[in-house]
Amino acid sequence: MLAAGVRGRSLKAVTSIGYGDNVSSKFSKRGYAVEMPKFDYKPPKYTGPSFEETMQTRKEYLTPALLTYYKNPIMIVDGKQQYLFDHEGNRYLDMFAGIVTVSVGHCHPTVTKAAIDQMNRLQHTTTIYLHPVIGEFGKKLAETFPKESNLKVVYFVNSGSEANDLAVMMARAYTGNFDFISLRNGYHGASGNSASLTALHTWKYPVPSDFGIKHTLNPDPYRGPFKSSDPEAGKKYAWHLKNLIEHSSPGAVAGFIAESIQGIGGTVELADGFLKEAYDIIRAHGGLCIADEVQTGFGRTGTNFWGFQNYGVTPDIVTMAKGIGNGAPLAAVVTTPEIAKTLSKRIHFNTYGGNPVSCAMGSAVLDVIRDEKIQQNAHDVGSIIKDGLNDLKKKYKVIGDVRGHGLMLGVELVRDHETLEPANTETAHVFEKAKEMGVLVGKGGLYGNCLRIKPPMCVTKEDAKFFLDVMDRSLASL
Ligand SMILES: Cc1ncc(COP(=O)(O)O)c(C=O)c1O
Repeated sequence: MLAAGVRGRSLKAVTSIGYGDNVSSKFSKRGYAVEMPKFDYKPPKYTGPSFEETMQTRKEYLTPALLTYYKNPIMIVDGKQQYLFDHEGNRYLDMFAGIVTVSVGHCHPTVTKAAIDQMNRLQHTTTIYLHPVIGEFGKKLAETFPKESNLKVVYFVNSGSEANDLAVMMARAYTGNFDFISLRNGYHGASGNSASLTALHTWKYPVPSDFGIKHTLNPDPYRGPFKSSDPEAGKKYAWHLKNLIEHSSPGAVAGFIAESIQGIGGTVELADGFLKEAYDIIRAHGGLCIADEVQTGFGRTGTNFWGFQNYGVTPDIVTMAKGIGNGAPLAAVVTTPEIAKTLSKRIHFNTYGGNPVSCAMGSAVLDVIRDEKIQQNAHDVGSIIKDGLNDLKKKYKVIGDVRGHGLMLGVELVRDHETLEPANTETAHVFEKAKEMGVLVGKGGLYGNCLRIKPPMCVTKEDAKFFLDVMDRSLASL
């Protein structure tokens, strides 16, 4: 029987991504590979519960709120580098990395070995005892920040939501102010403060939000009122931020948080100059500036290790998760020694924060990023993909915008370039077609009309060509 994900494909297409396939790359006239690049790895045969049983258990025992991608969902049971394998051994090029989390590749041997070695010696004690790996990893992480930033004190937690919750608390405790500002269209998590910072109606329940959190006009140079063609756009969006503080707060704020490229919001880049202006305004009103680097960190943007560095700003607090552990439940908040001191006025504790297994994995991730020149690869392969997507934009009117940096890319589909009517059903079609041809991408944006391209950063130039060819064919089938 064919896997749910490949039903309806021709047998040739199926075998081209099947078990241990070693198909030769052929190139189309456009220069894109028409078949998935060779990959010399065959996962062990899957012998666990069937697809149907797994689906049934999920439906019966897990929350109905779980989001399941694809009309015919896929069951992924193996991963290696930039590829995933379903229960029937069909190979997929993973262009979404477990939602921008598998930074250096699925089951990277260095990261896996670090986890196993640590697990064999000690899994958990909490930070009430000393353990070398936690401090060592903290030091390595601190060294990734520009020296002059003084960002060198690390708090380990377990998820991006927790990191953002902690950052808000820290900013309030440090400044003595309460009001806090985030951007509309931002996503910062699903718990406590972070759910309140999130400003996308699709992610918000009709329950009270944290008092004091306000959302300013998103500096979106594509959909917002001030476009990228306006050299003053960044300043104009910043004016709205100042206006919000003056009218909706006591004139002083605890802080401001922003992703340097909005991830779940549809890979939205902030208008030029906005972030610098915004940081000045926040500081002039007594607040701290927080960079949410959950998606943009660890070299993903290609040009710098941290996304905020691309905008010439220095935050007071940085939050990170996802790519930090290549899939380990690990996140962190990094700040200056002075701000960090605030939390020592009370006891602050996190049971799994600083878990030696997660920290060993995080430490190994940093080694791999350095040793395998992962950031450079994000830049080089990301540039090929972005150029190719811009070529496709010239060919297909439905592509409204191609944006992002490195391997943090997005494509917004619209029905009309003036009204920007979201082409959400078209996006869903391309998304499904790509999967049928063996490529998994993400979807996002408030209207569900953005394709998100954020693969494990070990993806190759050959993969990029194959991906572009699949995009071309998926768009052509609209
Ligand atoms: C930018 C950003 N911040 C925070 C979070 C929350 O992270 P987590 O899901 O680990 O709580 C996410 C999750 O997608 C995110 O994309």
